[in-house]
Amino acid sequence: MSSEESLLGSEFEAEVGNVAHGGHCVARHDGRVVFVRHALPGERVRVRVTEGRPGDRFLRGDAVEVLQPSPHRVAPPCRFSGPGRCGGCDWQHADISYTRELKAAVVAEQLRRLAGIDLEVTVEPVPGDVDGLRWRTRVEFAVDRGGAPGLRAHRSHDVVGVDDCLIATHRVVGSGVLTRAWPGSTAVDVVAPSGTGDVVVVPVPAADAVPTVREHVATDGWSGDFEVGARGFWQVHPGAAATFVGHVLRELAPAPGERAVDLYAGAGLFAAALADAVGEEGSVLAIESDARAVADARRNLAARPQVEVRRGKVDRAMRPLVQQGIRSDLVVLDPPRSGAGKAVVRDLAALRPRAVAYVACDPAALARDVAYAREAGYGLRSLRAFDAFPFTHHMECIAILEPEGPG
Ligand SMILES: C[S@@+](CC[C@H](N)C(=O)[O-])C[C@H]1O[C@@H](n2cnc3c(N)ncnc32)[C@H](O)[C@@H]1O
Repeated sequence: MSSEESLLGSEFEAEVGNVAHGGHCVARHDGRVVFVRHALPGERVRVRVTEGRPGDRFLRGDAVEVLQPSPHRVAPPCRFSGPGRCGGCDWQHADISYTRELKAAVVAEQLRRLAGIDLEVTVEPVPGDVDGLRWRTRVEFAVDRGGAPGLRAHRSHDVVGVDDCLIATHRVVGSGVLTRAWPGSTAVDVVAPSGTGDVVVVPVPAADAVPTVREHVATDGWSGDFEVGARGFWQVHPGAAATFVGHVLRELAPAPGERAVDLYAGAGLFAAALADAVGEEGSVLAIESDARAVADARRNLAARPQVEVRRGKVDRAMRPLVQQGIRSDLVVLDPPRSGAGKAVVRDLAALRPRAVAYVACDPAALARDVAYAREAGYGLRSLRAFDAFPFTHHMECIAILEPEGPG
């Protein structure tokens, strides 16, 4: 098909239907599905096509004019938000409580469609979050060819120049990263660690060794300190790590002497909390593939002899455990967006844990894996969903899985 046939830029009016996973809503045009950004369910809008050709199964578009607004529509607080502009947020044009309803609808739909589970889902703000703004403690700003910093447009390499980002913390923006040029860099990472630690700015590609930041996590009855590579994984919402660990500890209730496995362990957040709960008579096996994260985890967990940090891909590291007949009382898994997958879920079930906490940043991958868990004899006992990424379409779910009784 020739590029002349692209529908890019063509416009039509449409009724906007339900929200869909990915930060857009579903509309129909000429019998075809259109994923429309910058729209809300129930609206009538003028759509401009941003991706698609005549033969495609679906199109993508932006709502460039709102003909009948939703009662939940607001003027976006961010002046860089809107069609063709910064792609960092998806729902700046909706009031914050409604954005959480949209996310809850997405989680519920994924569970229904992929796991056959009907569940009423609530997406809760992370404790301490007031209006969904100024929460992001880690931001990778893009840099254009001329060295100017900004953020990327949606599904594009284009850099949109910005002098502020309303979801970034004041400390991130106050680092001055947006008021100077970055010649020779393709991106700049800014990390504002919790507490009083200095803000770290790392131009990418990094010329020197990437620095380490310190993070302190305190939740009811437990606290821990962590050193994390400034470009390594750490939750970006300042309340997220403590909220997730607190929930996982309450739900799993690890007891002294128990054995636990922490899959996709990162810098050792869950492994540390589990280790302190099971004590030295218990054990924790943490598995992580990234070399820098493994080094950070080994340092963070060095004072806990009951922990072993094993470097490897979870997909490969689980099989030998199963073959050796290893058992574990508890499993925590916190995989990347792609989820764990069938083989990992089958293998973790083969460790016969009494409970599993699945921390998930993608509800579709979670729902698929919950279905695999059910095949392996583990049912969904509870699910909580947290708005750990306000105004974006992202969220974090924590599912607790337990062995299903016979019958
Ligand atoms: C969402 S992060 C979770 C980190 C940690 N649990 C935390 O809360 O800070 C996912 C982690 O999985 C690691 N990872 C990704 N794919 C992996 C794989 N196949 N095997 C092991 N670790 C993997 C990443 O390096 C990253 O540290």
